Amino acid sequence: MTTAVHLDPDRLWRHGPGKSAAVAPVRPGPEADSSGGLGLRPALEEDTAPMDAVRAALAELTYPARAAAGSVGDPAAVIGAALRVHRLEPHGEYAFHSSHPSVRAKYPVVVRDRSRGLVFDPWSWRWCADPVGADRHGPRFRLQVRTEHLPRFYGGLRPILGDLEQGVTLRHLATVAGAVGLELVATEGARDGVAFDLVPGSADPAGSADPAGAADPADDAARPGVDAPTWGRILERRSAGRMPRGLPGALLSASRGLRPDESAALAAALGGTVPLPGPPVVGMHTLHRRGDRWHRDDGAPVPAAAMAEVLASHGLPNAPRNGAYLERAEFLAFATADPDAIAAECGTEAVRLALVRAGWLIQGLSYPAAACGRVCRPTRSFDDPAVTSLLGRPRREHVLLAAVIGVSPATGIEVLL
Ligand SMILES: Cc1cc2nc3c(=O)[nH]c(=O)nc-3n(C[C@H](O)[C@H](O)[C@H](O)COP(=O)(O)O)c2cc1C
Repeated sequence: MTTAVHLDPDRLWRHGPGKSAAVAPVRPGPEADSSGGLGLRPALEEDTAPMDAVRAALAELTYPARAAAGSVGDPAAVIGAALRVHRLEPHGEYAFHSSHPSVRAKYPVVVRDRSRGLVFDPWSWRWCADPVGADRHGPRFRLQVRTEHLPRFYGGLRPILGDLEQGVTLRHLATVAGAVGLELVATEGARDGVAFDLVPGSADPAGSADPAGAADPADDAARPGVDAPTWGRILERRSAGRMPRGLPGALLSASRGLRPDESAALAAALGGTVPLPGPPVVGMHTLHRRGDRWHRDDGAPVPAAAMAEVLASHGLPNAPRNGAYLERAEFLAFATADPDAIAAECGTEAVRLALVRAGWLIQGLSYPAAACGRVCRPTRSFDDPAVTSLLGRPRREHVLLAAVIGVSPATGIEVLL
C-alpha cells in the first residue's frame, strides 16, 4: 500500500529533523532484523529454474555489453534474478543484501506481477500469491512501496524514502533486463506505484546495457588483482560500503582519487534518457577528487574550505559507531530540485515523480562504481545550504538524493547465498 506524501517543508525538506533522522545512530532493535520475508504463500506452480538460468546468463555476460534481444526470455525470471537477496554479511547490523541498495537493507519496494496475481519475495526467491489478486488490464508489472517495511523512527520520511527507492529499484530492473536483451517501458507514475512492462529490446546487441556504458572491461582487466568483469560479478560486487564488525555507516580507505577514465565512466552513468513520466525537474551535479583536490563536473576546482564544509555536513561526526569518513570519498553526486516550486507548478504527484527520478539517476552510478572497484552509497543526509552554496544553486533547491563513491577496506566479509 502506498502512502500519500505530505509536503511539510519544515519537517521533510530542510536540514534539521528530516535530514538528521536518516543518520541518527540507532540501537539495534526489531528494525535491525532484515532477514525479511513477505510471509506470503508461494505460488504452487512456481519454478525457480528460469531465475537460475538468468543468473547463469548474467555470470557469462561481459559488462557492460548486452545480450541479443529475446535470448533470455521470461521477464518474471529476470525480475527475480535482479531482486533476489543473495549476500549475507554475517556480522552486519543489516545482514541480508540484494544486488541493489535499499534503506537499511529493508527492501520496502516489491514487484507485483499483475497478470498472474503474484508478488516477488526477494528473501524466499519465490513469486507468491498477491493478496491484491490478478488484473489482466494494463501493464504487467507494478512496483508497490510497503512503507511499513521501513523502521518506524523514519516517521513521515518513510513515503519519501519509498519513492526514492522506487526509482532505485526501477533503474536496477531496467539495467539487469537491459543486460539480457529486454527493455523496461514505464507507463504510469508514482501514485499507485510505477507500472511497467519488460519487452524485447530494440537496441543494438553489441551496445551497452548499462546506460552508463563507459566502463571499459579491457581497462579493468589490465589492472592487477581485478578480473574482467561480467554482469554477474558486477552485481555481486555492488555495495554501499560498510564498517567492519557490523558497525553502522561506511568506512572509506585513503586513496589517490579517481583516474580520468573512471570519473568519465561515472559521469556517463548520469546521462541518457529517463523513461519516466513527468518533467525532468531534477538536476545532477557531481564533484570528483584527484589527489587531494576536488573538482566540479566542468573541471573547475572547488575551494577546499567549502568542500570541507559539505563533507562535514553529512550526518554525524566520525565515531566508532558512525563511520562517515567522507573526506576520503572520491566522487559525489547530488540530485537536486526545488520541491516547493514543483508542487506549486505541477502538483504533489510531480514531487513524487521527482523523487523516483532522483533514485533512478543515482542508482545508475552503482554499476560503473562496482566496475571500478568502488563502493557507492546512496544518501540523503547532506546539509542542503552547504551543498547549494558550493554548487552555486538557488537556496530553494534541496538534495533529494546523493551518492558517495570511494574505496572500501571492508570487503571479503560477505557470503554469497
Ligand atoms: C533511497 C536510499 C537512501 C539511503 N540513505 C542512506 C543514508 O542517508 N545514509 C546512509 O549511510 N546510507 C543510506 N542508504 C544506503 C543503505 O543504507 C544501504 O544500501 C544498505 O545498508 C544496504 O547495504 P548495501 O547497499 O551494501 O547492500 C540509502 C539507500 C537508499 C536506497
